[in-house]
Amino acid sequence: MGLSTIKTELDNKIFTITINRSDKLNALNQTVLDELNDVMDLVYTDDKIKAVIITGAGEKAFVAGADISEFTSVNDDRGSQLSKKGQDIFFKIENCPKPVVAAVNGFALGGGCELAMACHFRLASTNAKFGQPEVNLGLIPGYGGTQRLTMLIGKGKAMELMMAGNMIGADEAKNLGLVNYVEPLENLIPKTKEILNIILTKSPLAISKIISSVNFYFNNEGFIEEAKLFGEVFSSDDKKEGTSAFLEKRKPVFK
Ligand code: COA
Repeated sequence: MGLSTIKTELDNKIFTITINRSDKLNALNQTVLDELNDVMDLVYTDDKIKAVIITGAGEKAFVAGADISEFTSVNDDRGSQLSKKGQDIFFKIENCPKPVVAAVNGFALGGGCELAMACHFRLASTNAKFGQPEVNLGLIPGYGGTQRLTMLIGKGKAMELMMAGNMIGADEAKNLGLVNYVEPLENLIPKTKEILNIILTKSPLAISKIISSVNFYFNNEGFIEEAKLFGEVFSSDDKKEGTSAFLEKRKPVFK
């Protein structure tokens, strides 16, 4: 498989997927999403892969969000399609019958936080930062964030994080239940593998049924609504102002 934005490695049944655009803080452009989709198809079909780690290249970012520069070139009426595409790839991660764990090694913002939340659980390094800053761009989370953040940390905290668009550190993320462990960066992958190696001693069939059963608890209607509402803000003047301001490195002025 020819991949340009993702690195993969299989080490003793554990497959590590590394988002590899560190000059853009591993932001998710369409190529990354397409490659992630292809790599997840491989995870489903390759019997040598028993568990998965998703992480980011470098020491600064897991994934700093969807690629904002693409938001200005995509037609205004394509917002809900864009959202639905990301949601579908993240469903593929969430519904994977093999355990998928996020090792969050830095910024996990917007689509990055959403990618981490689509994994079955998360570990973070001490320098990790989480947030849903879409509101600063005149947007809303569109890859499942409005649903999964609410499920993981509860409505009040999720509302505040999404409306204020601020970042929280790793310890606060752990207190809120967003991550299970906080480790020094150099110990993040070893600790993740330690946990996966315990899981790998259990019945793969039982593990896959736990994943299906837990996921069945959630309701898909919210994701459909999120994609529709993302489409509505995507064509707004505030989104034009917010995304241009980010790329021009200035503060946005919203109506
Ligand atoms: N989309 C596109 N490019 C991004 C990006 C994103 N989500 N996040 C970072 N980048 C790019 C920057 O534009 C910059 O590119 P340049 O060197 O060509 O100018 C590069 O990555 C490094 O980022 P920079 O902003 O210079 O790093 P920083 O340490 O000053 O700030 C952040 C780090 C994470 C606080 C800042 O990059 C940020 O706010 N990113 C956007 C987060 C966001 O809103 N995500 C949600 C998107 S829906």
